[in-house]
Amino acid sequence: MIPLELRLVEDYESMSREAADLVADRLRREPEPVLLLPTGGTPLGMYRRLVELHEGGLSFSRATLFNLDEYIGLPPQHPSSYRAYMHRELYRHVDADPRRVHLPDGSAVDTEAEAARYEAEIEAAGGVDLCVLGIGRNGHIGFNEPGTPFDARTRPVRLDGSTRRANARDFGGEDAPEKAITVGPGTIFDAREVLLLASGEPKAAAVAAALEGRVTQDVPASALRGHPRFTLLADRAAGGGLSG
Ligand code: GLP
Repeated sequence: MIPLELRLVEDYESMSREAADLVADRLRREPEPVLLLPTGGTPLGMYRRLVELHEGGLSFSRATLFNLDEYIGLPPQHPSSYRAYMHRELYRHVDADPRRVHLPDGSAVDTEAEAARYEAEIEAAGGVDLCVLGIGRNGHIGFNEPGTPFDARTRPVRLDGSTRRANARDFGGEDAPEKAITVGPGTIFDAREVLLLASGEPKAAAVAAALEGRVTQDVPASALRGHPRFTLLADRAAGGGLSG
């Protein structure tokens, strides 16, 4: 097994700053970087820090920016769509080129075709240089729920009840939509570098299962263990129990 890089930091703020620095490093180094980005509560601090770095001169203009997932059935301008989230948290504050910003279209009529189009778009961009991920309490990455084959690509999926409830905070307390389009574990694994972020005690069990339990499709994040360039960046509450 290839050893993963484990970066344990004190708290959420340090995790966010370090994550933003790793992203910023890619943006500065790569002539045309391709990023695959997450949503959720975990990366909010990273996006805030990236906006600050942009105010200090960091440019997103040459980057091609993909998102991991989008709910099915929401119009793109819906405030709880991931398109709206990305616009609100990052894109409206930085100089990203709108022609290079990509999200699955959750309002597409043919969601299978939309997923295939999105996968092809990632391929046409030359694949992903850096994929940043959060982790669900059940070990999901993107919207790849337990049971997803490791080689699955971008496709429409049905969400677990627990995920829909965990994300109810974005829907005024109502369960999140039943379906989404997500980039698959196979697509994530093909990224040249993967950075998994985890913060807070509620993620500790998922992090331990993903990093120290069996490599199994019951824990989608465990797929990352064989990746040649995989870093877990966690605060003490989420990652402090790992043996390192
Ligand atoms: C959501 C997203 C994931 C995210 C996860 C954890 O369902 N689709 O990409 O990593 O849940 O979210 P949070 O960071 O809010 O705990």
